[in-house]
Amino acid sequence: MKRIVILISGRGSNMQAILEAKLPVQVAAVIANKEDAGGLQTAASLGIATAVLSHKGYPSREAFDADLARLIDSYQPDLVVLAGFMRILSEGFVRHYENRMINIHPSLLPAFTGLSTHARAIQEGVKVHGCSVHFVTPELDHGPIICQAVVPVLDDDTEDTLSKRVLVCEHQIYPQAVRWFAEGRLSVEGNRVRVANHADIQAHSLIVPRD
Ligand code: GRF
Repeated sequence: MKRIVILISGRGSNMQAILEAKLPVQVAAVIANKEDAGGLQTAASLGIATAVLSHKGYPSREAFDADLARLIDSYQPDLVVLAGFMRILSEGFVRHYENRMINIHPSLLPAFTGLSTHARAIQEGVKVHGCSVHFVTPELDHGPIICQAVVPVLDDDTEDTLSKRVLVCEHQIYPQAVRWFAEGRLSVEGNRVRVANHADIQAHSLIVPRD
């Protein structure tokens, strides 16, 4: 069975969705860079090993990332899962986990990389928004996209209502992507990810708003 390590910085709802999805993986550890990350307690209550490595006090990003990689590798994971891990990663760290580190981002990439994605989607007036799971490459919030989920943006949406709608989708697609990895169904060809034997796409189109 494939081993995964999950990295978090906060509440860890995506981590929880993965832990509760009963995937064919062994979750070797959940690691946080903040000792008050709420997800640590959730993981521990589900019987998962946890560890904290604070980035504070490190002289450089590279020095922290080197120690973080040592900690991660001590669990010998096949896949590193970033689930709300709020750190910019150094190039060496990312290359070390090439094609074996994934992230979830709350937008339809490549739109709205970075922070405050929901507020910016509303500000820009887009009619659809969503989330993306992608392999991590050195450029922030880029990298081959494994899957995306789309939600409508409604006229009266606030950042709060829109983020909640997107989060429901995050909790669906992130466990799905981890399972595909575990089942060996993902192959990366350039910037495209192929998923072997996925279900037929039901919806032909999503038109927002509709007449
Ligand atoms: C999620 O919106 C995720 O897409 C983003 O950070 C948030 C983390 O939430 N990368 P949680 O800690 O998984 O609840």
